[in-house]
Amino acid sequence: MNVLAIETSCDETAAALIAETGDRARPWQIRSSIVASQTAIHREWGGVVPELASRQHVRDICGVVDAALAQAQATIADVDALAVTQGPGLVGSLLVGVAFAKSLAWARQLPVIPVHHLAGHIESLVLAHGELPLPAAVLVVSGGHTSLYLVPEPGVYRLVGRTRDDAAGEAYDKVAKLLGLGYPGGPVIDRMSREGRDDRFHFPVTRLTHADRNAPRATGSDLLPPDIARRTDFSFSGLKTAVLRLVRERSADGPLPREDVADICASFQRVVIEALLDRTFEAARWLGARSVGISGGVSANSRLRADAEARGARLGLPVYVPPLSLSTDNAAMIGAAGLRRLRAGATSDLAFNAEASLPL
Ligand code: KG4
Ligand code: ZN
Repeated sequence: MNVLAIETSCDETAAALIAETGDRARPWQIRSSIVASQTAIHREWGGVVPELASRQHVRDICGVVDAALAQAQATIADVDALAVTQGPGLVGSLLVGVAFAKSLAWARQLPVIPVHHLAGHIESLVLAHGELPLPAAVLVVSGGHTSLYLVPEPGVYRLVGRTRDDAAGEAYDKVAKLLGLGYPGGPVIDRMSREGRDDRFHFPVTRLTHADRNAPRATGSDLLPPDIARRTDFSFSGLKTAVLRLVRERSADGPLPREDVADICASFQRVVIEALLDRTFEAARWLGARSVGISGGVSANSRLRADAEARGARLGLPVYVPPLSLSTDNAAMIGAAGLRRLRAGATSDLAFNAEASLPL
């Protein structure tokens, strides 16, 4: 079976053709994957402008789908089903992909499977490495999300922790902006950090010890002891404010020297990565996880990858991270998650809509 997948949740227009392999251990194969990034458009504004993003998706979607079919040397006649990101994301952006997929499904009489964006990020690990040793603790860390899941069996995702405020990628983007490093912030802070000292500035790391009284539903409380469940949530807005204060203080007499910028980047990055890995590995231990997965845009970070590897090796826990092409937003992961749902019996219904917020 071949699935044509479409992803337009934020500022990437993406399409991919994913095939089943027939091998249960490594169930899917990428026949093609095309990503049209809008970074150049949004860079000028220092962040994603939703209205510009949806307009650009409209311009790009047909060409991106054609390119995905061409790269796979396939035609629409080879497509057996469609998968599309339903949410969460920017609703105007999501709408373009959802309307396109539903129209194509209706015109070709094909099933269309709505996919949760974070299920896509989780399945990117299986797409790249085959089925993980389960149960797995999987951290999805991107510009819009920082969420920790327990995957007890294939296709089952149980939330055990999430950010109470900013996502980790959002913190990277905001810190880069206030240091004048441009958008997106992750890759440039990753690079600058390599020339900086990570112990020069001591930024606070928020360690949550109280229950989230605003939670739409409790995270992890059914899976972890209450005092541990409270500690598996993340918070990055205090850190961002601490960096802002330091930058204001130190740039009062003129622009910061490059050395200071590099040291701030490295010190900020150390705190973010420690917070991410402390909670992930602590939860993994409590949950009896047999592997750890890290996916989403921030999993492209070179230090996060290296530190996660090192911790995993110390604890004898295998760590899985997707290749760079599957870390940031792409449609291949949506095709994988779509095939997972299709094989689990999900049925197609054209009545679904794009959802800006959608629980997983
Ligand atoms: O998964 P993604 O493409 O989009 C969302 O679903 O949000 O993630 C984008 C985020 C951005 O915040 C970007 O700054 C961050 O991933 N990112 C990185 C790196 N590359 C991208 N963060 C840290 N280090 C990187 N190398
Ligand atoms: Zn994403």
